[in-house]
Amino acid sequence: MLDPNLKVAFIGGGSMAKAILSGLIFSGHSPKHIMVCTPTAKNRTEIAENFQVLVEHDNLKAVAFADIIILAVKPNMIGTVCDELREEFALRNQPNILVSVAAGINSEQVHQASGNSRVICAMPNLPAAVGQGLTGLHAHESASQEDIKQVNDLMSAVGETMWINNPHHMPSIVAAAGSSPAYFYLFMEAMEKSAIAQGLPAHQAHEAVMQSALGAVSLAKQTGTSFSQLRGQVTSPKGTTEQGIKTFLQRDIEGIVGEAMIKVANRSRELEQSHISS
Ligand SMILES: NC(=O)c1ccc[n+]([C@@H]2O[C@H](COP(=O)([O-])OP(=O)(O)OC[C@H]3O[C@@H](n4cnc5c(N)ncnc54)[C@H](OP(=O)(O)O)[C@@H]3O)[C@@H](O)[C@H]2O)c1
Repeated sequence: MLDPNLKVAFIGGGSMAKAILSGLIFSGHSPKHIMVCTPTAKNRTEIAENFQVLVEHDNLKAVAFADIIILAVKPNMIGTVCDELREEFALRNQPNILVSVAAGINSEQVHQASGNSRVICAMPNLPAAVGQGLTGLHAHESASQEDIKQVNDLMSAVGETMWINNPHHMPSIVAAAGSSPAYFYLFMEAMEKSAIAQGLPAHQAHEAVMQSALGAVSLAKQTGTSFSQLRGQVTSPKGTTEQGIKTFLQRDIEGIVGEAMIKVANRSRELEQSHISS
């Protein structure tokens, strides 16, 4: 259960910060206990108006304010932000817990760049905005059991959490969870376009695809039946669905998805090699 007094600061006010902070507010966490530090004035004004949270341009304000600081900048900015925070951390008896959500940055890199802070790496995804996220988490050895509990409570407020013992598995979480909402949206976009091209009004095409996606996921989750068995239940021999499934299989859908996910995971590893250590 998330401590209602826990103070959380985001460094970076982009898509991911907004998704997590929306989810936190949606879960009932007080906006007064949330700060967003981000450089663009227009973005700060919008965030303050939309979420009623505190906003700052100075990243160092996060240090005095927060129990947990979430680094939600692009991976190539993590080194710069950690450089900025390091001196401020050094002045504190008990520096804040740092949670990095950057793809392709490992916990040891953030630990070293931030002057040996307690670090947890998180790989959330966009549905965190509505409390339906999946966050892969890896705790650096510097993090205490209490830190792990606090970060678990925090990310549980915006969806499910999944702890990963082996940091080398984080790129696979990037491929399966961090990036994967985009694959589903791409698939749904293609379905929607085809339904419209076949003559359905756009709003009906959109609703038909969206409700079917929601229903398919809810059914799998509630019954615990495997994806392959459920597919079998929809696909009657010589029926309509079989025609569609055959088309996907002939075009090697598994191969395409496999290749895409390997490329995502490899990109995450590539980023790890190139940032901070460079
Ligand atoms: N988007 C996703 O679905 C997703 C999923 C998993 C993980 N992630 C990770 O989340 C991180 C953020 O991604 P994003 O999609 O949210 O990117 P984004 O929308 O581009 O947001 C990046 C934010 O960083 C801010 N920023 C830039 N320089 C800064 C600085 N020196 N100090 C403080 N803030 C600074 C920008 O500020 P202004 O806007 O104010 O200019 C912007 O709001 C990335 O590391 C990414 O790997 C994203």
